[in-house]
Amino acid sequence: MRRAKISIIGAGNVGATCAHWAAAKELGDIVLLDIPDKVGVAQGKAIDLWCCGPIERFDANIVGTSDYADIAGSDVVIVTAGLPRKPGMSRDDLIETNVKIVRSVCEQIKQHAPKAVVIVVSNPLDAMVYTAWKATGFPTNQILGQAGALDVARFRTFIAGKIGCSIEDVSALLLGGHGDDMVPLPRYTSVHGIPVSQLLPKEVIDSCVERAKVGGGEIVKLMGTSAYYAPASGSVQMAEAIIKDKKRIIPCAAWCQNEYGVGGGFVGVPCVLGKGGMEKVIEVELDASEKKLMDESVSHVKDLVGVVKKMFPDLA
Ligand code: APR
Repeated sequence: MRRAKISIIGAGNVGATCAHWAAAKELGDIVLLDIPDKVGVAQGKAIDLWCCGPIERFDANIVGTSDYADIAGSDVVIVTAGLPRKPGMSRDDLIETNVKIVRSVCEQIKQHAPKAVVIVVSNPLDAMVYTAWKATGFPTNQILGQAGALDVARFRTFIAGKIGCSIEDVSALLLGGHGDDMVPLPRYTSVHGIPVSQLLPKEVIDSCVERAKVGGGEIVKLMGTSAYYAPASGSVQMAEAIIKDKKRIIPCAAWCQNEYGVGGGFVGVPCVLGKGGMEKVIEVELDASEKKLMDESVSHVKDLVGVVKKMFPDLA
C-alpha cells in the first residue's frame, strides 16, 4: 500500500513540531521545507526526527529540503511559513510580511502539489487562508485553516482542569475567527454527555472561554514568541482526519457560502474532514446572543481580508 505523504512548509517551531507529531502518529512520509538559507535546519531536523523511528517505532521517510519539487505527490501540505507573533508587533506588519510569504509558498504548492489539501497555520490565520486560496486557485474544499482545532483543545483543557476530569470526556464546539473574537459555545459543551452548565458555575465557564480566547497571547507574553506544540498538534489532527478519510468533525477555517450567513468566505466552523479535504460544513442552531457574536466575528474576518485586498489588489 502506498504511504501517505505530508509536506510541511517552514521548518521552524510550528513546522518541526508538526513533523514530530505526524511521525509519532506514523501518518506517512514527511517533507520539511524551508528557504535555501535555512535548508540546513530543515535537513538537520529531518535527520534527527528520522532517527527516532527505531525508538518510537514508526516507519517514515523524513527529508529536509528547500526544493519544492520534493513536495510532489503530497496528500496534505501544512503551511507554517511566516513570522510568528512577537510582543509589540502590529497586526498589519504581520499581515504584509506573511501575505507575501504565504503567497509565494502557495504558488509553489499550486505548481508542485496541485492535488494536495492545504492546511494553513501562518497568522493572521483568516487572512492567510484567503491568501492561500487566491494564490493556489484551488477549489475551496482543498483549502483549510488550522485555528479551531487548537482553540477548542485549549477550551476543553481549561474546562477539564476546572472540573478535575479527563480531557477525553470533554466535548466542545467553537466558531468564528482565530483570536479574541472566536466564539466558544458553552451551550454545546458537554462532559460525557452532561451539559457543562450542570457541572460548573457560569462564571467559571466564562473564565475558561476568556482564557481560550487569549490563550495564544498568554503564551506569547510568557515566551516572547508564539505557541507551537498545540498549534502543531491541531494541524496534525486535521491532516490525520484527511489522510485516513476519518470524516472527523473538527472546527476549521473553511469556505462558507450560505452557511452561517457568511455569503462567501473562510470562517471558523465545524466541518467534516476526509480524503476530499473539507467535505461538509456542519451548521448548528445559534440563539440570538451566539448569532450576534458569530456575526461580529465574521465581520472582523471580512475586515482582515479587506486589508489583504487593499494591500495586494491582485489578490482581490
Ligand atoms: N518559504 C518557506 N519557509 C519560510 C519562508 C518561505 N518563503 N519564509 C519563512 N519561512 C520559514 C522561516 O525560515 C522559519 O524557519 O518559516 C519558519 C517559521 O518558523 P518560526 O520563525 O519558528 O515561526 P513559528 O513559531 O513556527 O510560526 C510560524 O505559524 O502559528 C503561526 O503565528 C505563527 O505565522 C506564524 C507561523
